[in-house]
Amino acid sequence: MFKPLDILDEKDKRLRAISKDATFPLSKEEKKLIQQMIDHLTFSQIEEKAEKYNLRPGMGLAFPQLGINKRIIVIVEEYEEGKFDNYVVINPVIVSNSTEIIAADAGEGCLSVNREVEGHVPRYARVTVEGYDEDGNLIRVRAREDLSIAFQHEIDHLNGILFFDRINKNKPFFSEHEIRLI
Ligand code: NI
Repeated sequence: MFKPLDILDEKDKRLRAISKDATFPLSKEEKKLIQQMIDHLTFSQIEEKAEKYNLRPGMGLAFPQLGINKRIIVIVEEYEEGKFDNYVVINPVIVSNSTEIIAADAGEGCLSVNREVEGHVPRYARVTVEGYDEDGNLIRVRAREDLSIAFQHEIDHLNGILFFDRINKNKPFFSEHEIRLI
């Protein structure tokens, strides 16, 4: 039986904490929560499910958004119409990044930010992320474009950073000449 997750709002201070490394083996509760995050994010990207359960579409979630300050992120990417890839990374670290910077032209959103925030968020076009899978095996993910943005956005949550912190107040929008807009 699917039940939407309770996601903290941006005003909650727990979103501003630096999260601690998760330890292995993960508890049953942690594994259950990871599965609920995958289900929530997947359903949120399927129109009829999103409508039925009143879910705002989202691609990623981090444990602190559920009030747990542990370094665990989940990303669900629709790589083809109706087909989804899950990325669950425990204790993720960006081990390399492109020099090229991009930004989502439409701006970013966050399931903890229940309002429109305008502005470009500069992100690396490509990142390599290392971390562990749910069983504690070392994994490495290479991400580009939207997926790269998603990883950086979720890893920011582990450090108490929300996407709008990275919008330059004096210059919220860039031109195509300055950074590549996707
Ligand atoms: Ni977010």
